Amino acid sequence: MAIPEKIGRYQIKDVLGHGGMAVVYQAYDPSFDREVAVKVLPREVLHDPHFRSRFEREFKIVAGLEHPAIAPVYDVGEENGQPYFVMRYMTGGSLAGWIHTKGKISLQDTARVIEKVALGLAYAHKKGVVHRDLKPDNILFDGNGDPFISDFGVANLTESTTSAGGTGIVGSPAYMSPEQAKGSEADSLSDIYSLGVIVYQMLSGQQPFHSDTPMGVVVKHIIEPIPEILKSNPDLPPEVDFIIKNALAKDKTRRYSTALELARALNLAAFGVEGNIGLKTTSALNLPDAQQPRGRMGLLVAAIVLTIIVVGFFLLRNQLLVIELPPTPTSAPVLETVTVQATTTVPMQAVTPTLEVVPTTAFAPFCAEEITIAEPFVRVTNFACIRKRPYTTVTIPDDATFELTDPQATCISEAVSNGRRVLSCSGPSFLVYDLKVCVPPVIPESDLNKCSTGDTFDSTNQCCIAAPPQGAGCTIFVVKLKGC
Ligand SMILES: Nc1ncnc2c1ncn2[C@@H]1O[C@H](COP(=O)(O)OP(=O)(O)O)[C@@H](O)[C@H]1O
Ligand SMILES: [Mg+2]
Repeated sequence: MAIPEKIGRYQIKDVLGHGGMAVVYQAYDPSFDREVAVKVLPREVLHDPHFRSRFEREFKIVAGLEHPAIAPVYDVGEENGQPYFVMRYMTGGSLAGWIHTKGKISLQDTARVIEKVALGLAYAHKKGVVHRDLKPDNILFDGNGDPFISDFGVANLTESTTSAGGTGIVGSPAYMSPEQAKGSEADSLSDIYSLGVIVYQMLSGQQPFHSDTPMGVVVKHIIEPIPEILKSNPDLPPEVDFIIKNALAKDKTRRYSTALELARALNLAAFGVEGNIGLKTTSALNLPDAQQPRGRMGLLVAAIVLTIIVVGFFLLRNQLLVIELPPTPTSAPVLETVTVQATTTVPMQAVTPTLEVVPTTAFAPFCAEEITIAEPFVRVTNFACIRKRPYTTVTIPDDATFELTDPQATCISEAVSNGRRVLSCSGPSFLVYDLKVCVPPVIPESDLNKCSTGDTFDSTNQCCIAAPPQGAGCTIFVVKLKGC
């Protein structure tokens, strides 16, 4: 792609990088005789009629953040219908790059970086600004090696491009808090979770959750236990495990309530002292979400058990994953768009000589006319677009088998929790296809003994069955994909 010569008054010199939605250029600002970074957002954002007002509003807030650990935003503008903003050029690379080259980072260096980042984050939180997309790519170093948080509030802006006015949020799957993953509005405690993931990655050299698909990572943030960091890095003092588990608690009310608490705990583990991070700050910080009564979250535990049923719309644009729930009440984000059929009547197969050649349909002749066998419980949990590809998530019993007949379609098992398996089903936009889910009927040992060898006994119907009737214990579930 050709590099533009100029954007606004800024003379473009080079490409610094590509993000989820944006291109970042190195540029020269003749007015101030300084190097800057210019981030250009794609044209599509303008499709949102509210984008312009949001863009202006967000950047007034972000430009109002003045802190030695926050990359300053200098200017915003529009060039050929593309919005851009101008920020300080950071010459020291990103934390992502540092982790990439170094692998594990020492506890002391981690504590030093996190202390500065936490100060910036706590400052923003105090002003009511949530980052929403904290990750190593958004922690940039200046020429002195000091870290700065970049892209404050940008996730919230770019959301408008992919979420059609819903409660969608944006974040990067690997750093996304469970509540963000479930479609709740991100708050300061979600940022603390993301900071915890960054700490985990710095100390162990890897992210806590991995999967073949972005959705798999998101699901793991919701349901998988936090891995023991000491297994990845046994040299760490054991209290680091406790720090990680506090920072990454699935229940946000169990996390450190401020970024500074996390930084102090790390300093203590690294240096034996909390450091000079103002002690007053914990009480002085007036985090809006910290005031929520804990009991209310406690009530959500049951909902969290159902989390795999609640994964929101997944819309991923490059690295940016947008999870969006359809408009539902603001309380527990539990979707009940459920299609359930508890039992089905399997028509009795006519007893004909062909039964001998097709053993799967062979009932003993003294069976009841019709028998009922429970069907597996299958439900749609969400529809999503990820990298412009549609996904529908469904849950099935974890012991069920599944198959598809449409070769264009796929269903992948993403995770298992509480006896339910989460499948992400995909294919071309608007495709509708059958997902056959089966749990073979269970016949107890005592009943089995009542039948001759090779037969099984169905006590409800007092009959011997050579094999379950075709389709018994199965349901055909219609998967519908949205257009992306
Ligand atoms: N202010 C900046 N100074 C120097 N490099 C930057 C700056 N902002 C972004 N970059 C570089 O451009 C890349 C893409 O940035 P961005 O669009 O913010 O994407 P993301 O943060 O999602 O990776 C970053 O990873 C970084 O390497
Ligand atoms: Mg960035």
